Amino acid sequence: MRIFDLEEIRRDFPILSRQVYGKPLVYLDNAATAQKPRCVLDAVMRLYSETNANVHRGIHFLSEQCTEMYEQARERVRSFVNAASSEEIVFTSGATAGMNAVAYSYGELAFGRGDNIVVSEMEHHSNIVPWQIVCQRKGVEIRVLPFDDRGELEIDRLPELIDGRTRIVAVTQASNVLGTRPDVRKIVEIAHSIGVPVAVDGCQGVVHGGVDVQALGCDFYVFSGHKLYGPNGTGVLYARREWLEKMPPFMGGGDMVANVSFDRTVFADLPLKFEAGTANYAGAVGLGEAIEYYRQFDPKDVEAHERTLSVYAAERLEKIDGMKIYGTTCDKCSILSFNVEGVHHSDLGMILDKLGVAVRSGAHCADPVMNHYGVQGMCRASFAFYNTMAEADALVEGVKRAVDMLR
Ligand code: ALA
Repeated sequence: MRIFDLEEIRRDFPILSRQVYGKPLVYLDNAATAQKPRCVLDAVMRLYSETNANVHRGIHFLSEQCTEMYEQARERVRSFVNAASSEEIVFTSGATAGMNAVAYSYGELAFGRGDNIVVSEMEHHSNIVPWQIVCQRKGVEIRVLPFDDRGELEIDRLPELIDGRTRIVAVTQASNVLGTRPDVRKIVEIAHSIGVPVAVDGCQGVVHGGVDVQALGCDFYVFSGHKLYGPNGTGVLYARREWLEKMPPFMGGGDMVANVSFDRTVFADLPLKFEAGTANYAGAVGLGEAIEYYRQFDPKDVEAHERTLSVYAAERLEKIDGMKIYGTTCDKCSILSFNVEGVHHSDLGMILDKLGVAVRSGAHCADPVMNHYGVQGMCRASFAFYNTMAEADALVEGVKRAVDMLR
């Protein structure tokens, strides 16, 4: 394990030393996308400079070498999420693509008129809208598992929502707005007790605590590479083999077929059946590198540091008159969404920006969460393991200054 030396870690991320508006960048929008360490940038550049060739197709040297690197990246992902087999790891362009693939392919397999599914109220749009599209087409009802005002998912209400016609439960491992980490293991136990599979959005969860998909017992798990310090346009869909074998492919094209005639097409073996078209192999290799980079650190060190930052920032923010922080569960991850009475979240975000502090301001692709609290939007600071206490202070001082100006 590498020693958790913050100064050294920050030197790994070239962008962190830049300035914006002549001020040091304080990057607190990590839940939207995280910055990339130099080793990831180098890995992608090296691949294009030295090994670029299409994977699974050529018989020439470069193609074989590139295919080997792509498959090694898949193995890195498998080991990271502890899937039983690399055949259960499908590379996608992101979590959204992964969840759409599950909704369409699993929906095609399992949904019928009069069925229902359960989706939690704290989901990102990408774990709501794909289901809505398929459910509308198939005549399937969506039932909502609510959360309370502290941001705790009301898991005890799940048994009253699921029945013999429930086809899936879709839930996040960590809310991108509230930071809540629902007890997904318990959700899986309840759902599986009556034979209902569970799909998990792991976008924020995988970054804050990681995942062991076998221990979690979920059927589907998706995440994006770019939030895990990897390249943009990368993502992973894990699905248990039994589902991938039964599900029809979501997209057709090259690489996902064994042979094609106008009468009949035989699909490729897993996982390629779900990887139509030229893969983003450079991105996948970069993601594999990001995972190796991240795994150098003890997860306990990462968690402890992120927690220290967010608890410290929350305690200081709470002292500001009219401050409301959304999501106050005790084991939440390092995501702080807030509003200040009498101040518009966009104005607050804009002034923070001018002070060099990058936060996200808006509905965070989670309108149902906004509706729950009756607000149009929130400001959100999301901490990564490379952030510092001085940056937490910069956030708090920036909010104070903005509030003084705006009130
Ligand atoms: N899903 C990303 C976020 O929460 C974009 O900001």
